[in-house]
Amino acid sequence: MRLKTLIAGAMMMPAVALAWPWSTDMMNQPSIKPQEGTMLNFPERSIPVGGMPTKVADREAAKSLVNPIKATEKSIAEGRTLYKIYCATCHGMTGAADSPVGGKIGAIALNDSYVQESLTEGWVWGTVTFGSYVMPAYGIPQGKRGSNDLNVEERWHVVNYIKHGLVKDHMAASTAAAK
Ligand code: HEC
Repeated sequence: MRLKTLIAGAMMMPAVALAWPWSTDMMNQPSIKPQEGTMLNFPERSIPVGGMPTKVADREAAKSLVNPIKATEKSIAEGRTLYKIYCATCHGMTGAADSPVGGKIGAIALNDSYVQESLTEGWVWGTVTFGSYVMPAYGIPQGKRGSNDLNVEERWHVVNYIKHGLVKDHMAASTAAAK
């Protein structure tokens, strides 16, 4: 009777039941857990992986950021690929906001002078990072809006494409369509 009462009691108080000494057996293993023990120094000359720690509070703060990635052919090509995956649905294949969705949600054209001349590269990067009013974020999700699909470098590649490849692509597409 006493044993039954004990078991019944343990079942009613799972917190107590979980605290048996053997409850954590599976957790305690020889491997070192995060924050456990002393951190070893990094080997000499090691470099961060995928490292470009760009921390900014919001889009306003990103406005004056200097693009750390040169607009080489390679970067522009990378940006073009990412643009077609992530941006073309709304902004159109070559930025003229002529996609079926674009017209419905008011996506703006990226090939006109507003984006090409008035907006800084930092601002465009900030827009991709934090999103805009309707546009979702691609770097740092805002609440439930957006994702972190693009890392810091990828966002700069997209900026390089918008500022150094998109207009050319748009003109080539328009010429081809007119033929
Ligand atoms: C879901 C649709 C959608 C997608 C996808 C999208 N945008 Fe936008 N974007 C918008 C809309 C709508 C606006 C205008 C309203 C606003 O600012 O939110 C906009 C505005 C912008 C602006 C102008 C910001 C300003 O200050 O006026 C830029 C630059 C831009 N988008 C770039 C991009 C890039 C680069 C991508 C891909 C990484 C992208 N957008 C993906 C919908 C989208």
